[in-house]
Amino acid sequence: MRFDIITIFPEIFGSVFSGGVVKKALEKGLIEVHVHDLRTFTRDKHKQVDDRPFGGGQGMVLKPEPIFAAVEEIRCREGVPVFLLSPQGRKLDFQYAEDLAQNDQIILICGRYEGVDERVIQHLVTGEISIGDYILTGGEPAALVVVDAVSRFVPRVVGKADSVKNDTFFTGLLEFPQYTRPRDFRGIKVPEVLFSGDHSRIESWRLKKSLEKTWLLRPDLLESRTVSREEKKILEEIKTEKKGKRDESD
Ligand SMILES: C[S@@+](CC[C@H](N)C(=O)[O-])C[C@H]1O[C@@H](n2cnc3c(N)ncnc32)[C@H](O)[C@@H]1O
Repeated sequence: MRFDIITIFPEIFGSVFSGGVVKKALEKGLIEVHVHDLRTFTRDKHKQVDDRPFGGGQGMVLKPEPIFAAVEEIRCREGVPVFLLSPQGRKLDFQYAEDLAQNDQIILICGRYEGVDERVIQHLVTGEISIGDYILTGGEPAALVVVDAVSRFVPRVVGKADSVKNDTFFTGLLEFPQYTRPRDFRGIKVPEVLFSGDHSRIESWRLKKSLEKTWLLRPDLLESRTVSREEKKILEEIKTEKKGKRDESD
C-alpha cells in the first residue's frame, strides 16, 4: 500500500517512520510513504502556498492551485482516493482504518492555518478524515496517525496475525491485560493462571478480563455488539463478583 502525504512541513516526517512496525513494513516494501512538499507544486517565484481569506477574517488559507497540481501529479491512476485531514471529517476508528487499508494508494492532504480553500473539499477530495474532536495546528500529526493505524491492516505488517486479532476493538472488546517479566514486581504478582500452561483456562481468563474491562471502561461497546450467551453468563458473574466486593467494603 502506498501513502502520499502533501504538506508544507515535510521535515516533520523526518524520523517518525524510522522505528518499529512501520519502519519494518517500509523496509520489507509492504508499505510506501512518500512525503511531498506543497511548495514544489507552486508556479510563482515566491512559492506561495497560502493567501488571505476572501471576505476578511483572521489567518491564512491554503491556495487551491498547488494542491490540485500535487494530487494530479502524484496519483498513480484515476480514482485513487484523496483525503483531507480535517476536524470536520469522518472520525477515524478501527473499521474506517480497515476500510482505508483496502486501497493500494491513498493521498493525504495536510491542512494548516485556517484550513484549505473550499474548492479543494468540493472538487478534489474523496473525503475528509478527522482523528478526533479537537483542533490540531496542522494535519501532519493526523496523517501520521492514519498511516500508522491503516498500516496495521496491510497484510503481514503486524508480525503475528494474532496480535491484530487480540487488539482492542478487533472483537468489539477492549484487550485483556498483558504481563511480562518479572513475575513479582515490588510484591505485585502476575495472575497465577498465566503460568498454568492450560491454554483453555488462559483463554477463558482473557475473555473474562476483556469483558470486565469493556464493561467498566467502555460499556457503549457492549451495547453496540452482539453478546453471546457464554459472554452474557460471564458478564453476570463479573457483576455479582463486583457487587460482592462492594458489599464487603461497605
Ligand atoms: C487549525 S486547523 C484549521 C481548523 C479550521 N479552521 C476549522 O475550524 O475546521 C489546521 C489544519 O489542521 C488539521 N486538523 C486540525 N484538527 C484536526 C483533526 N481533529 N483531525 C484531522 N486534522 C485536523 C486540518 O488539516 C486543518 O486544516
